[in-house]
Amino acid sequence: MAETEPIHLENYEKLGAFYLGRPYDLAERIAQEGLLLYDSKDLTTHAVCVGMTGSGKTGLCIGLLEEAAIDGIPAIVIDPKGDLPNLLLTFPELRPEDFTPWVNEGDARKKNLTRDQYGRQQAELWRDGLASWGQDGSRIARLRDSADFAVYTPGSTAGIPVSILSSFEAPPQALVDDSELLGDRIATTATSLLGLVGIEADPIRSREHILLSTILEQAWRTGRDLDLPALIQAVQDPPVKKVGVLDIEAFYPAGQRFELAMALNNLLAAPGFDTWMQGEPLEIDRILYTPEGKPRVSIFSIAHLSEAERMFFVSLLLNQVLGWMRGQSGTTSLRAIVYMDEIFGYFPPVANPPSKRPLLTLLKQGRAYGVGVVLATQNPVDLDYKGLSNTGTWFIGRLQTERDKARVLEGLEGVAAGARTAFDRGAMEETLAGLGKRVFLLNNVHEDEPVVFETRWVMSYLRGPLTREQIRLLTGKRRGSDASQPMAAAGKETAAASPAEGTVSAEAGSAFVRPVLPPGVPQHFVPLRGPGLEKSLTYRPMLLAAGTVRIFDRKTKVDFAEDLVSLTPLTSGAVALDWEDAMEVDIDLTDLESAPAASVRYAELPAVAAKKTSYTAWKREFKDWLYRNRKLELLKSPMLKEFSSPGESERDFRIRLRQTAREDRDAALEKLRKKYAPKLARLQERIRRAEQSVSREAEQAKQQKMQTAISFGATLLSAVMGRKAASRSSVGRATTAARGVSRSMKEAQDVNRARESLESHRQKLVDLEAEFQEETDLIKERFDPLAEELETVVVRPKKKDIAVQVVGLGWAPFWETADGAAAPAWD
Ligand SMILES: Nc1ncnc2c1ncn2[C@@H]1O[C@H](COP(=O)(O)OP(=O)(O)OP(=O)(O)O)[C@@H](O)[C@H]1O
Ligand SMILES: [Mg+2]
Repeated sequence: MAETEPIHLENYEKLGAFYLGRPYDLAERIAQEGLLLYDSKDLTTHAVCVGMTGSGKTGLCIGLLEEAAIDGIPAIVIDPKGDLPNLLLTFPELRPEDFTPWVNEGDARKKNLTRDQYGRQQAELWRDGLASWGQDGSRIARLRDSADFAVYTPGSTAGIPVSILSSFEAPPQALVDDSELLGDRIATTATSLLGLVGIEADPIRSREHILLSTILEQAWRTGRDLDLPALIQAVQDPPVKKVGVLDIEAFYPAGQRFELAMALNNLLAAPGFDTWMQGEPLEIDRILYTPEGKPRVSIFSIAHLSEAERMFFVSLLLNQVLGWMRGQSGTTSLRAIVYMDEIFGYFPPVANPPSKRPLLTLLKQGRAYGVGVVLATQNPVDLDYKGLSNTGTWFIGRLQTERDKARVLEGLEGVAAGARTAFDRGAMEETLAGLGKRVFLLNNVHEDEPVVFETRWVMSYLRGPLTREQIRLLTGKRRGSDASQPMAAAGKETAAASPAEGTVSAEAGSAFVRPVLPPGVPQHFVPLRGPGLEKSLTYRPMLLAAGTVRIFDRKTKVDFAEDLVSLTPLTSGAVALDWEDAMEVDIDLTDLESAPAASVRYAELPAVAAKKTSYTAWKREFKDWLYRNRKLELLKSPMLKEFSSPGESERDFRIRLRQTAREDRDAALEKLRKKYAPKLARLQERIRRAEQSVSREAEQAKQQKMQTAISFGATLLSAVMGRKAASRSSVGRATTAARGVSRSMKEAQDVNRARESLESHRQKLVDLEAEFQEETDLIKERFDPLAEELETVVVRPKKKDIAVQVVGLGWAPFWETADGAAAPAWD
C-alpha cells in the first residue's frame, strides 16, 4: 500500500461518519486514497452483510461496531459463533505481553513459534496493520473510553449470566396497548418455550400453544407478571374456563395438561437450568447503558447452547428489544445497534421460527426509533426476502456459488427498484465476481451509486473464537468495573416531599364513641389496608387535604400536573395543626369511605376541629403550603439548553442529551453537504477539464498530475461528501477520460496557460477545503454529555395553578399496641 498522509480521524468522528475502509480499485487490485465513510444515520434503515466464509464479514462488522461505540452508540450483539468477544481484546499500548495471553496456541504451533514469539508477532501485525489505516493506540484508548464492553453468557456463568425470568413479566404498557405487538410477543414466548421442551407447535392448531398463549395473554393484559412455576401452575389450573366456545376440559383435558405441566417442570428441574434463572435480568435499558449512562456494547455469546436453547433465547431477547424500543421517543438519528453475526436459521425465507417475527418487526419499525439492525450471513439464501426489502445497506463480500450471486443480484435489483439508485445488472455481476478477501461492495440506498471498498484494520484483536474459560477470564477482569455491577437504584428525582414517618405515639383518652360534628364539617374515613392481627384499631382525627398542582413553565417546557392527598395530625395543644407535620399519603380520593370500620375507638377530637370556620382557614393555609412546598427540580444542560423532564433521572437525561446532540450534529452535517456539494462538484469538473487540456498539451506530465488531483480525495471535504453529490464519480471519470486523450502536441504557450489555469483551480479547491474545515470546527465540540456539568433549575407553581379539592376532617385508622406504639393502618 502506498504511503499516505496521516488521517485526522477525529474530524470524521465529529461528523458522525463511520470510517469503514478505503475505496478499492478492482481493476488495479489496490486500495485507493481517500476514506470510505458511512453516515451513522444511514444505519437506521439497517444493513445486511453477506459473503463466504473468511471474506471478512465479522471483521467489517466489528469495525462498524467500533465506530459506533466511539460515537457513543450502544449495541446488542448476538453471537452464535464466538468471534465477537474479540471486541474486548483492545490494547491501547499494543505491547506483545498484551497479546500473548490471548493468542491462538494452535496458530502459533502451526508457525513453529512459541506463544511469546507469536504474541510478539501478533502485536507487531496489529500495530502495523492499524498504522497502514491511519490508526494507532490512542484511537484504541478512545474506543475503550467511549463504551463499556461486556460478554453475557445465558445459561452459563462463564460471562455475565442472564436471568430470563423477567421475560415472563408483563411487557411495558406501550406494548400491551398495541394488540398486534402484544400478540406477537405472546406467540413468540409460547413458541420458543415449547421449542425448549421439544414441542414444535403450530400457533393456530396446537393445543399447547393455544393454552400457553391464553395464559400469557390473560396475565399480561391485567399487568400481572408470570414466572415458570406460575406458568406450570396455570397449565394445570387454567385461569379461563373456556377456550373459544369449548369448555377447557373438553378442549384440553386435565390429564393431558398434566403432561405439558410435567414437561415444563422437567425443564425447571433439569440440572443447570437454574443458571437461566440467576444473573442480570434481560432489561434492555441496563444492557444498553451503565448506571451512569455510558453506552455499552453487550455481547450475547450463545455458541455453548443447544439449538433449541439458542432459538429460545434469541427470540426472548429480540422481544425484549421490541418492548424497550416502543417506549423510546422517535428520532432521526441512530440510537442503538442490534447485530447478529450469523443469521442462519433465525430469519429463513420459508419457515417461521419464533425469532422471525420479532426480527421482521424490528426491521419494519426500528427506523422510527433509531434502532439499526445489522445481519450477517455466509449465504444470501438464509435471509427472508421481505426483510431484505426493508434493508437500506448491503455489504456484499466474495460469494462462493453462482446461485449465491444470482440471489444477491435479485435482491439488489429489488432494492434499486424502490430507490433512486440506478441498477446495471451486468456491471454489478462483474463487480461481484471480482471481490476478494476484505473487499466489499457497498450498496446504500442513501447514496447515488454503489462503491467497492476494502475494510479498514480493526482495533480489536481478532484472535478467533474464545473458549468459555477465556470468557470467564475476560469477564472476571472487568468485574469490579461498572460492567457487571447491578444497577444502582436510579435516583428518580421527584418533587414529592418525603412522607413523614409512620409511627406516632399513642394518645391517651380514646373512646368508642364517634364524636358528633356540626353540619357543614366534611368528614371522611381513610380506608384500612393490610392485616392488623392482635392489635386494636383507633381512628385519629387528622386534617385531610387534597389538591392538584400544575406546574407550567414556558422556559423549561414543563407542563406537569400532580394530584396529592395529605394528612396532618390535629391536636388539642395550643397549635391544633402544624403544617410541618403534614404527610403525603398514597390514597386515592375515590377510596375514601363515608363510614368507619366496625368496633373501633376514636381519639379525642380537638375543639377547633369541630368548628366549620377552622376548615375555611385551613383551606387557605393548605393552598399556601402547596404553593411553598411544591416545586420541581429539573436539570439543565447549558451546552444544549435542554431541561430534564419531571421524574427523569440524571442518567436518563444524559442518555437523552446524547441523542439530541447526535440529531443536531447529523442535521449540521446535512446542511454542510447541501452547501458544499455543488461547489465541490463544480471545482472538480473544472480541474478535470483543465487536466485534460494539460495532458493534451504535455503528455509526460499526465500521470504525475493526475495522481495529485485524485489525492484530494483524501480530504475531509470530499470524503464526507461521499457519493451523495456524484462528486467522486466525476473524479473517477476524469481518470478514464484522461487516459484516452490523444497525444497530439501543441505549442509551449498553450501548455503554460493550461497549467496556470489548473493551478488556480487547485488552489480554489484547497481554499474550499479550508473553509469547510473551519465550518466543521464550528460544529459543537465532540460533546460528552457524561462529562457535562448540569445545572439545577427549580420551577414552582403559580398560585392560580393550584386547586384544592378537599379539606375536611379525616379519620385515620392506627393500629395501637399495648405498649403504646401506633402504626398507620392505611399502608
Ligand atoms: N478488518 C480486519 N482487520 C484485520 N483482520 C481482518 C479484518 N477482517 C478480516 N480479518 C482477518 O481475516 C479473517 C477472516 O475474516 P472474518 O472472520 O471477518 O471472516 P467471515 O466472513 O466473518 O468468515 P465466517 O463466515 O467464517 O465467519 C479474520 O480472522 C482476520 O484474521
Ligand atoms: Mg464471521
